[in-house]
Amino acid sequence: MSSFFYRNLKRAYPVIQSAKGVWVSDTDGNSYLDGSSGAIVANLGHGVKPINDAICQQLSRVAFAHTSQFVSQSALDLAERIVALTPDGFRSGARAYFTSGGSESVETAIKMARAYCVETGQSARTTVVSRRNSYHGSTVGALSATGHPARRRPYLPILKAQPQVSPVYQYRCRCGNEGVCQSPACTIACADELESIFLAEGPENVLAFIAEPVVGAALGAAAPGPQYWPRVREICTKYGVLLIADDVMTGLGRVGANFGLDLWGVVPDVICLGKGLSSGYMPLGAVLASGRIVEGFECNSGVFEHGFTYSGHPVACAAGVAAVDFLAEHNLIAQVAAREAELFAGLEQLRRFDLVGDVRGRGFLSGIELVRNRKSKEPFDPDLRVSQLLAKAALKTGLLIYPGSGSIDGTNGDHVIVAPPFTISAEELQEILIRLSVALESVVTELAAQV
Ligand SMILES: Cc1ncc(COP(=O)(O)O)c(C=O)c1O
Repeated sequence: MSSFFYRNLKRAYPVIQSAKGVWVSDTDGNSYLDGSSGAIVANLGHGVKPINDAICQQLSRVAFAHTSQFVSQSALDLAERIVALTPDGFRSGARAYFTSGGSESVETAIKMARAYCVETGQSARTTVVSRRNSYHGSTVGALSATGHPARRRPYLPILKAQPQVSPVYQYRCRCGNEGVCQSPACTIACADELESIFLAEGPENVLAFIAEPVVGAALGAAAPGPQYWPRVREICTKYGVLLIADDVMTGLGRVGANFGLDLWGVVPDVICLGKGLSSGYMPLGAVLASGRIVEGFECNSGVFEHGFTYSGHPVACAAGVAAVDFLAEHNLIAQVAAREAELFAGLEQLRRFDLVGDVRGRGFLSGIELVRNRKSKEPFDPDLRVSQLLAKAALKTGLLIYPGSGSIDGTNGDHVIVAPPFTISAEELQEILIRLSVALESVVTELAAQV
């Protein structure tokens, strides 16, 4: 009997022993191929020596300093390196605010947007618009912006009610297009919902729009058509609403670009980072404020009334510096972009299984939507928990993938995410596909036995 508060107290979890590259071992001697980088975190793989060394070196100098008293060289270095990666139109005067993870980054971004508006005399702006089928984190502010009914349900009475618009979900477009909708008109209609909401709220009351460049956990790697993000940017600019890109999952190479919106040449006002920033070596996140936002503070009180004890933690930032340096030295972001085709060519072959309804994503962030009927796109009965069945079957083959459900309406809809570390070899990538095929085969058999 353990004293550890497990995510699910009725489930047994293996105890992790060690990990190297894309392989993870438990204390029972089982070995797993990390097909999802944990929860899309370990972008650089496990046991990277330069990152371990950087952590130890920082530890041997100083482990902790509070940002009300000191700044550390590792925090200064990391800020400089990440800001240097941001696009033109964002970079000049931009600054990085460090956190300990994605939810803290989202909380910080929302409060930063609000504080900026107060500083610049726009105190009426309070409403944060987000999207359905989204995930922005577990804390109350981030969950208030999240559009994932199952994750919100128990907490609804304590969440702030705020408007949500539709995401672009090309596989299940409202126009009812067969296949995957590529209609520019549909894509633009989704973006234009934002304008309708701004007008309904009174644009002078709207603080920010927050969204994931490519939707991760809530929609299984759904990316919009080319017209969406430029149009969203146009609408936010028109009404003076800040655009917050939640790049916690998509940032720093996961979708084959420095930042998610780079794929569309769109410049947000604020960027949230987490996960891949330290590649999981330390709890670390960041909020990048564009030059314009920073100027709003600098030209007024200069104070952002906010803070976490562990913000800018020297050891976490040292891990971040080493991770960002490793990315650059091995040219990994460009490699993800170049190898996207290799991953998707393999995944496309899985369409031979009738339950594979859609294969989608960008870079090394891919999603497979599972359906009962491929022609009608009818989803599985949610009670069957098919995405969980597939993840369990994959685990039996020694493969880790990331399941998700409720993608259609909060209840129906199953998908899994495949998102390997950027350092995976071609052979290991093939091994993911082989194991995933075995897992799909066994789910087909299991479902057939239930009929
Ligand atoms: C897009 C996005 N935002 C925010 C978060 C929350 O990050 P964390 O779990 O590190 O708090 C996640 C986590 O999955 C995420 O995918």
